[in-house]
Amino acid sequence: MTIDNSPPALEANGIVKRFGGALAVDDVSILVAPGEIHAVVGENGAGKSTLMRVLAGILIPDEGIVSVNGVPLTGGAKSALDAGIALVHQELSLIPEMTVAENILLGSTPTSFGFIRAAELRATAAAALDEIGVSVDLDESISRLSVSLRQFVEIARAVARKPRVLILDEPTATLTPAETDYLLAMLQRLAAKGMAVIYISHRIPEVFRICKVVTILRDGQVVDVTRIEDTTPGAVIENMVGKELKQDLDSRRDATPGEVVLSARGIRAHNVNGVDLDVRSGEIVGLGGLVGAGRTELVRAIIGADARTGGSALITVDGAPRYITSYQVAVRSGIGYVPEERRTDGLALSMTVADNIALPNRRELSVFGVQLRKKTTAFVTALATAVALKPPQIERNVGEYSGGNQQKVAIAKWLGRKPQFIVLDEPTRGVDVGAKAEIHRLVRELADTGAAVLVVSSDLPELLELSDVIHVIRDGRIMGTLSGAEADEKSVMSLASGEKMVGA
Ligand SMILES: Nc1ncnc2c1ncn2[C@@H]1O[C@H](COP(=O)(O)OP(=O)(O)OP(=O)(O)O)[C@@H](O)[C@H]1O
Ligand SMILES: [Mg+2]
Repeated sequence: MTIDNSPPALEANGIVKRFGGALAVDDVSILVAPGEIHAVVGENGAGKSTLMRVLAGILIPDEGIVSVNGVPLTGGAKSALDAGIALVHQELSLIPEMTVAENILLGSTPTSFGFIRAAELRATAAAALDEIGVSVDLDESISRLSVSLRQFVEIARAVARKPRVLILDEPTATLTPAETDYLLAMLQRLAAKGMAVIYISHRIPEVFRICKVVTILRDGQVVDVTRIEDTTPGAVIENMVGKELKQDLDSRRDATPGEVVLSARGIRAHNVNGVDLDVRSGEIVGLGGLVGAGRTELVRAIIGADARTGGSALITVDGAPRYITSYQVAVRSGIGYVPEERRTDGLALSMTVADNIALPNRRELSVFGVQLRKKTTAFVTALATAVALKPPQIERNVGEYSGGNQQKVAIAKWLGRKPQFIVLDEPTRGVDVGAKAEIHRLVRELADTGAAVLVVSSDLPELLELSDVIHVIRDGRIMGTLSGAEADEKSVMSLASGEKMVGA
């Protein structure tokens, strides 16, 4: 029976999943009632995604049984789907070259005598999009959609299967605050119709807004299951990390910026309409704005990662000014860049953590072209510890790490190089609360040693906490600039949305 003594829609008992010798999920049981939104939370690597893949039949557990409405699954993804379990993955899994409609019906394409029944396909896809209230052209290719729209198409694909149990693994990581509100309201609507929902997020406030029950995982085990009304955010976090989290009270730096390191003038590019921007030594400059405002495009145009249609960027390192005419020049000038799409742009998933981190630091770690093993190990270990990589096994392939831990490797890789200019695009997306504080500390430290830092973040508290100055971008232009002292959520959002915020 569930926490409310009702028969569960989903019941998993004694789930064990090992990878090699390591226990990723260690004797986990979970019960979810129809109409219940049930949160599963835990630090990066706690076992959340692994458990969800077991529930959805994608991974076969070493032990344990999953049942839907009292009927045990026979195993495999098809059996789970047929029984009514649909999973929205942590990483987007759509096929970019195919259309919205094709993606929504992927794997369950209606055919008769081998021919795809196009009309039926479109109707089902349209109904699913309608159900979640998102309007997007069915014939549009996925590659042309924004990341947030892709996320909604992904959800439509799950909803199209009319699941009894809908699982969402960090669905809001790439969404704006307004899109997040929309998604949360949608989940409440689906739950009100009787759907059981399992909701994974590192954003504890979201959990408290919509969930009824929370299961807390730590090191693959359930450490607590409780009704939301019987707990507090502080208690949940304490259970996640296994100790009280120290709050960094005096986090705002006393920055005295030095010389200008990066000077961009009249930058124009796709979605960027003429931007002037300076970043000084020892300064953290934040770029705020809504998703799609042109922030990523702007930083990529500055560092030469994407083509510019106008403007110039001058970088001054060790007193030597140099125009950034290509990304190669930028890299040779010693800039660091942690891209937004780290899984595809920033990491070699089939290489080890050590190799990934050592890669941009080769020169420092070798003599006459030969890599120094001991030095490399010490260097990589120190960085892995600094970002709280879990487990701290530097000879393991990055692809075997949980999503949040992969992010940490991407950050460590560049922070280790101690660049004099670094661009961080959404530096802590998908990273748990504890590691987030660690990464913020590292970024501040880097600035304290004289680096010029440019940060893009949709996470407003993060942007406010890190930045000495914030430029708010809309439609590829700077709409306003706020000093760290005068910036708050309201002033940033009103510039970002172009609307005066009403109320206090
Ligand atoms: N394919 C794999 N091979 C080996 N180990 C794996 C694999 N997938 C996951 N693991 C390990 O299983 C453990 C749990 O990982 P999981 O992805 O479930 O964590 P998570 O709670 O979803 O974390 P995050 O918040 O970072 O997404 C981790 O120690 C991870 O390294
Ligand atoms: Mg995960």
